[in-house]
Amino acid sequence: MSDSSSNAIPQYLPLRNDLAGEEPYGAPQLDVPVCLNVNENPYEPAPEVVEAIARRVREIATGLNRYPDREHIELRKAFAAYLEREAGVHFEVEQLWGANGSNEIMLQLFQAFGGPGRSALSCDPSYSMYPEYARDTFTQWHTIPRDDDFTVNVERTAQAIREVKPSMVVLTSPNNPTGTPLPLEDIEALLEVCNEVDVEGALTGVHPVMIVDEAYAEFRDPGTPSALSLIERHPNLAVSRTMSKAFAFAGARVGYLAASKGIIDAVRIVRLPYHLSALTQAAALAAFEHTDEQLSQVDHLRDLREHSARWLAKQTYKGKPLQVAPSQSNFILFGGHFDKRERIFDELLKRGVLIRVVGPQGWLRVCVGTDAEMEQFHKALTEVLRIVEAE
Ligand SMILES: Cc1ncc(COP(=O)(O)O)c(C=O)c1O
Repeated sequence: MSDSSSNAIPQYLPLRNDLAGEEPYGAPQLDVPVCLNVNENPYEPAPEVVEAIARRVREIATGLNRYPDREHIELRKAFAAYLEREAGVHFEVEQLWGANGSNEIMLQLFQAFGGPGRSALSCDPSYSMYPEYARDTFTQWHTIPRDDDFTVNVERTAQAIREVKPSMVVLTSPNNPTGTPLPLEDIEALLEVCNEVDVEGALTGVHPVMIVDEAYAEFRDPGTPSALSLIERHPNLAVSRTMSKAFAFAGARVGYLAASKGIIDAVRIVRLPYHLSALTQAAALAAFEHTDEQLSQVDHLRDLREHSARWLAKQTYKGKPLQVAPSQSNFILFGGHFDKRERIFDELLKRGVLIRVVGPQGWLRVCVGTDAEMEQFHKALTEVLRIVEAE
């Protein structure tokens, strides 16, 4: 792995004015022993899953002279089976849609429902790609601050929806980088507000689309209801999911969307033709054949998260205990009063542990790795905190 250094775009190129000085988004990709920076599942696929992927890919390889199934029907059926099992909600194929990661799903939603003269609204801090989807689609971006405990302030958000009249409301549950879940009652309350609001510049009766990004849903406490269960009653609700996190399939790039047929059809207008390669579809189908194996470490990762959160809460920096944001995800935001978080990050990196400088000032985020990786992280952090606080 390597991290390509960023270069200024040559002056003679007609780069869009609003992109001048912008950098490509992405966490550093460094070749270090302990990578805890991009919220992956640290467990590699079991040998039988690798075999199933190889078999499926071999089977379709003879047809690679042809374009793939543009509508990826078999894969959409697999999404339906998975969501029925994982969340207990039934969807028809026409209510599901796949793309190259939930990043592409989100961009397609912005392409369909954002655009010049339109606004999207979310609650900060949240996933740093959202403003980029807005930028790339010329959608105005608005954020409402979360409360000090990182929960969504429903009243303030409702007020902002009434004032801004956005075409899109983007909520994240659990949230990245804080791990904070969003109760279903809060989502429903905000959906009611969306149903009363007419989108700025649109005809009367055109209401905002709400997107709930559930990239980390499987890491929540078992039995936590999903926003998927609200779709039947709310045709303006879209729920985004991914195979990248709990499903341990980040390298394959598969995200998906559940929503009313109307929303899916809108996304189908903006998608590129044949956006999901035959190789991707084959690999994802093979992985879904082995859902049990792919999810087999999720309970364990949840236990490791709780163990690490308890451990972190017992550590101190400059005489004060570390704060730990309660997380329902596979990462933990911790610290709160780190005055030199970049130094802590650098010293951890020197010890082979890569975490992420993200979120509000004073905080750092660590992703849950294997038992051995978490031990190395704890050991390194113990040393680093003493060094940095003494400087
Ligand atoms: C909240 C959230 N949504 C979406 C994504 C995108 O994931 P992917 O494109 O791999 O599905 C991420 C990745 O970190 C994320 O944190």
